[in-house]
Amino acid sequence: MRIGIIGAGAMARALGGGWSAAGHEVLVGARSATAAGELAATIGARAGTIREAAGFGDVVVLALPVQALPEVLRAVGTLLAGRTIVDCTNAFAPDAAAPEGTTAFVLAEDAVAEGIAAQAPGAHVVKAFNLCAAEVWEAKERIFDGRRLAMPLCGDDEAAVRAVAALAEDLGLQPIPAGGLHRARYLEAMSVFTVGLWFGGHDARAMFPPVDAAFAVTD
Ligand SMILES: NC(=O)c1ccc[n+]([C@@H]2O[C@H](COP(=O)([O-])OP(=O)(O)OC[C@H]3O[C@@H](n4cnc5c(N)ncnc54)[C@H](OP(=O)(O)O)[C@@H]3O)[C@@H](O)[C@H]2O)c1
Repeated sequence: MRIGIIGAGAMARALGGGWSAAGHEVLVGARSATAAGELAATIGARAGTIREAAGFGDVVVLALPVQALPEVLRAVGTLLAGRTIVDCTNAFAPDAAAPEGTTAFVLAEDAVAEGIAAQAPGAHVVKAFNLCAAEVWEAKERIFDGRRLAMPLCGDDEAAVRAVAALAEDLGLQPIPAGGLHRARYLEAMSVFTVGLWFGGHDARAMFPPVDAAFAVTD
């Protein structure tokens, strides 16, 4: 598959590196030609401009800070029509109400994925890869406590969701289709909430029972 990645930071490196190693054709596009070139050389990808990345991929990953999205989408929105867009972004802001010495976050912006869809008409946006740190996506380890690391994804276009699920499998992950793009806002909130717990030293994974113990009586 041809994958364009816009951005040349930690997420571009983690996801692009994994997909390049899995045999996909990856093009990294960034506003800095040097940054795009260096990352591309490191992960075995091609380098280009942001527009080239947007026009290259069957799948285009927005590996950007949320604040950069309006400007970038204004520049490339029309190129994205008909393509699958992976939105891995998180809009974190410090939680001003958290007790002193505690690091916690709130959403700086609601419903980012839906906003992307509004700014890129005809593109098939899929929210994915936003729940774990780039280091986790880049790592080889996928089985924790005997269970494969799962990656929920939300999107409206079935083929786009299938394509991104296959890309998750290429990284050794277990994709969990989690509904339409209107539900992506819950993944965004989940990330903000969970990262705050992790920063507080809590094991967020311990909060949930296995599925067969989740309800006293199954519906
Ligand atoms: N890192 C993580 O662990 C992680 C995990 C899950 C989700 N995410 C989310 O994934 C997204 C990317 O994160 P990241 O860690 O890869 O960020 P990063 O390492 O800071 O890289 C961001 C990239 O975006 C580019 N950029 C910034 N502003 C731009 C603009 N106005 N126009 C064009 N390009 C711009 C940067 O280019 P310059 O170098 O030129 O500034 C850089 O290439 C964020 O939304 C983040 O919340 C991150």
